[in-house]
Amino acid sequence: MTAAPGLRLEVLPEGQWAETVAQALLERLVANPRLRLCLPTGDTPTPVYARLAVLDRAGRPGAWAQATAVLLDEWVGLPAGDPARCDRRITQDLLDGLAPPPRFIPIEVDGDDPEAAAARHDVAATGLDLGVLGLGMNGHIGFNEPGSRPDDPTRLVRLAVSSRDAATARYGAARTPTAGITIGVARLLEAHEVWLLVTGERKASILRRALREPEGPDCPASYLLRHRRLTVFADEAAAATL
Ligand code: F6R
Repeated sequence: MTAAPGLRLEVLPEGQWAETVAQALLERLVANPRLRLCLPTGDTPTPVYARLAVLDRAGRPGAWAQATAVLLDEWVGLPAGDPARCDRRITQDLLDGLAPPPRFIPIEVDGDDPEAAAARHDVAATGLDLGVLGLGMNGHIGFNEPGSRPDDPTRLVRLAVSSRDAATARYGAARTPTAGITIGVARLLEAHEVWLLVTGERKASILRRALREPEGPDCPASYLLRHRRLTVFADEAAAATL
């Protein structure tokens, strides 16, 4: 067992998981209306985002008005508006459901200098109040693929084959980029607080690797245990072997 004094593990029944994470996020917004957070796309957060839209309609209007949402990662090489783009997906899954939405900072991948876009996004990713992350089947967080290091800044990265395969399965081979830009592990570790969202039996073994074995570049999520305020929101299936 790895010592992790900053870790809070919340294991939730599948039926309560999204509601609990959404309510926890709203609590952060109430405590700090100017919350600056980074957000992932993907299947894991989608039910949380759907719930947030419902709560936004039912609850306090304008809860998100002063907040800033910084996109966690983006593919490089897909045209603006492509349905596979992370900025498009988070707009559909979350931002369009909030009235008004938070200020949104996408990753400007459309110019001809992705390195410069990454450097600009590194500035946007500095000083986050909350980093919200999903967990890749290979242990990635954002597009910090295996081999990433704890001092990595926001940068242009080559995607792991398994990440490309996941994109191909979802969007088709014609739309599978080989590169992306991701907020780096260093910026995530600097955030005031980090949440790792993990659901489903298929993530159980990589979650166990991340939390219960010594940190290492084979599993970038394992570096999150360095954080003093890390909350893992896992459903019972994902946490089954912890
Ligand atoms: C996506 C992202 C990725 C995903 C991870 C898990 O913006 O940052 O790291 O969080 O690949 O994806 P899902 O949730 O689809 O299993």
